[in-house]
Amino acid sequence: MSDKKKILITRKLPDAVTKRALTNYDATINAKDEAYDADKMVALAQGMDALLCTITNDVSEGVIERLPDSVRVIATFSVGFEHINLTAAKERGIVVTNTPGVLTDATADIALLLMLGASRRVREGAQMIDTGWSGWTPTQLMGIQVTGKRLGILGMGEIGRATALRARAFGMEIHYHSRNRLGADLEQGAVYHETLEGLLAVSDFLSLHCPLTDETKHLLNAERIALLPESPIVINTSRGPVVDDEALIAALKSGRVAAAGLDVFEGEPNLNPGYLDCPNAFLLPHLGSATIETRNAMGFTALDNLDAFFAGSEPPNRIA
Ligand code: DGY
Repeated sequence: MSDKKKILITRKLPDAVTKRALTNYDATINAKDEAYDADKMVALAQGMDALLCTITNDVSEGVIERLPDSVRVIATFSVGFEHINLTAAKERGIVVTNTPGVLTDATADIALLLMLGASRRVREGAQMIDTGWSGWTPTQLMGIQVTGKRLGILGMGEIGRATALRARAFGMEIHYHSRNRLGADLEQGAVYHETLEGLLAVSDFLSLHCPLTDETKHLLNAERIALLPESPIVINTSRGPVVDDEALIAALKSGRVAAAGLDVFEGEPNLNPGYLDCPNAFLLPHLGSATIETRNAMGFTALDNLDAFFAGSEPPNRIA
């Protein structure tokens, strides 16, 4: 009998990550990449020492209560961890880890892609190519230029700062609001706003980089959209529920918001169908971290955390 630790990997992972997991662990993999519901995940967890899960798994309190005692650690293949009830995990003595740092650049790249895609009307342009383009005209698909515009960043953590770095190269002026003001070395000349309202008032472009918590759920609602300057552009690479979809869709339809670039959605993959009727909504299917390099790094980070735990050391990215 193998003395390797038994781990359940709940989704299909990149080949290099799967290979390492199968070499070092008695790993049960999900070759068909089925989206396990809670019952199936709990059933497959029987006899496992660890779970390597993703943001598509429900690891709420009720699920954690049903996990077998053998599961001592949960490593999520994500930086976000709102799908896991950390308090419930702590109560059961289950260690939880995530994968910070390694998806910063890929996610910031997508934020810039969304900014340009939304402001330069890429969705409408691509559709024009697909359905028959009648040729260049001086007034065709005129968008909004990013150069010289004020970019408001809500949440100046690693991804917010990496977005600021890229936006500066496009000649944007950076403003931000975070719970705490950063030091000058990290601020890099960005203008700090003590209040969210202060930030909204100057955000020609608003890019959301805050985690989803009870406080940030539907944070961008109709009242706050009304505080934005004229014809703003809203970008979201954080979590869908930070935006009140009905409010944003109404603002996109009325023109109060010029355009939105969204990579994440409340209830994804079932996004609010209202967005599909908005040509000024440039939408992507949660691609923030979707590069080979980043997804490999996320998998290796999750495995590093498990390796450390089973070696009796503190996992480098322990969150509970
Ligand atoms: C995460 O890691 O939280 C991301 O949303 C996955 O891209």
